[in-house]
Amino acid sequence: MELLDAIRNRRTTNSRFLEKPLSDDHIRTIIEAASYAPSHFNSQPWRFVLIRSREGRDRLGKIAGRSMRAVMEKGEFWKRYLKYFRFSREEIDKSGDGIYIDNMPAPLRPFIRYIFSEKGAEVMNKLRVPYILAIDSKRLITTSPLILAVLLTKEEYRKGELSGMYSMLALGMAIENIWLTANSLGVGVQFISLPMEAGGEHWAECVAMIDPPENYEVIALFRLGYVDPDAKRPTIDWSSKQRKDISQFCFDETFGNGWRSGRV
Ligand SMILES: Cc1cc2nc3c(=O)[nH]c(=O)nc-3n(C[C@H](O)[C@H](O)[C@H](O)COP(=O)(O)O)c2cc1C
Repeated sequence: MELLDAIRNRRTTNSRFLEKPLSDDHIRTIIEAASYAPSHFNSQPWRFVLIRSREGRDRLGKIAGRSMRAVMEKGEFWKRYLKYFRFSREEIDKSGDGIYIDNMPAPLRPFIRYIFSEKGAEVMNKLRVPYILAIDSKRLITTSPLILAVLLTKEEYRKGELSGMYSMLALGMAIENIWLTANSLGVGVQFISLPMEAGGEHWAECVAMIDPPENYEVIALFRLGYVDPDAKRPTIDWSSKQRKDISQFCFDETFGNGWRSGRV
């Protein structure tokens, strides 16, 4: 795949994967790609843990399902992230960012704006949305052939210090390498943030499963698997292909002066 095509076509896969294990060759290629990312003083502060066992994936699926339900029932999620939801083509075309809610289960459609409002949690709970989302989330994880945990060494990841920022930048670049390489092999990637969003015992249980030594911190979890071209879209699917125009985020000389070609 050409590099620019790979970058432009990289996507989050939020539907089910084929239930086929990832080949060792593909795992090696994907993880090795991470190691070519830049890092301050070539410190390579990242570590990865691969969870492939049925038992591990089931356990994580259960945690993710419970986390989803906890977060959604309290309505915190909608409140925290309301500013990112777009409800019409016009809105998304204007902002160029956020999540376009273009595919909702039919019974929810008439309430779409209301349920995403701050007061909407009650309606969501009555319609059992947290339960439906929890089942979806659990199923997506237990059926993923690979859960990837990414960690940083605390020797570098010192919060509030430059090395903390450097190591997070390096990890971000390593993850992008993983993502692009995975997609080029027909392997989809999705960030699993719900246990982190729920926090507390939910996240602690994930960390306990990974069992890192004292001087390593678990930063994030991802699920990976071969993309199923016939997979159904999930119950609530937030498509997010839209991007801002370059003039909206890249400036000439001083901040705010949107870049245009031919200006010199
Ligand atoms: C830090 C971070 C957290 C994210 N959390 C989630 C998540 O919990 N679930 C999910 O499906 N996508 C998650 N995403 C993916 C974004 O929603 C996605 O990258 C964005 O909407 C653009 O879509 P694309 O990746 O298909 O281009 C996360 C991405 C990042 C960088």
